[in-house]
Amino acid sequence: MTGRTENLQRFINAAETAIQARAAQFPDAMAMADRMFSALKNNDEANTQNTPARLPVCSHLKGALDLAQNGPEPIPALADAFAAIEPEFAWARRPEAARVGADFYDSHANASIIGLGGLEARQDVRIGVSLVAPGIDYPRHHHPPEELYIVLAPGKWMQNDNPLAAKQSGDLVHNPPNAWHAMQSMDTPLLAIWCLWTGD
Ligand SMILES: [Fe+2]
Repeated sequence: MTGRTENLQRFINAAETAIQARAAQFPDAMAMADRMFSALKNNDEANTQNTPARLPVCSHLKGALDLAQNGPEPIPALADAFAAIEPEFAWARRPEAARVGADFYDSHANASIIGLGGLEARQDVRIGVSLVAPGIDYPRHHHPPEELYIVLAPGKWMQNDNPLAAKQSGDLVHNPPNAWHAMQSMDTPLLAIWCLWTGD
């Protein structure tokens, strides 16, 4: 199968709208967002033959999406578009999850949406999602690609040596290249979409 499904296009459009809604607060992230969504206009890439899979922690998805549905515009529309493609995701743990500890291992899942292992194989953009059960630390990590999170269900984020800060549905988190960052769920499941620019 080649090309992009209508549902995936709807999700991409909704993600772009959610980012644009906060453009004034994140001027430094908009160049990356523009590069990403311009690149995504090219949708000739073949779909990945990924095998859908859920993990036990995905039982928190519904609760997280209910929180997103109560978020500000345009987050409910993004949550709807997300829910329509989620059955195709291959949810998985972070590769080093077993070393981090049993709590983390059992209480988080990531899925690729665009890029390797996602619904559209391509090199220039990676978009995915992280789900974290309540009361869990998502370990500090960093990576060369610049990153932009869209918060669907609230949680706390930290960057570099700054303290953890609560982010609500609709908030963005912008990580410059190689910035250290971590997440922590509060007493509800954390759900966030992350976008990485991996092109030139
Ligand atoms: Fe990251």
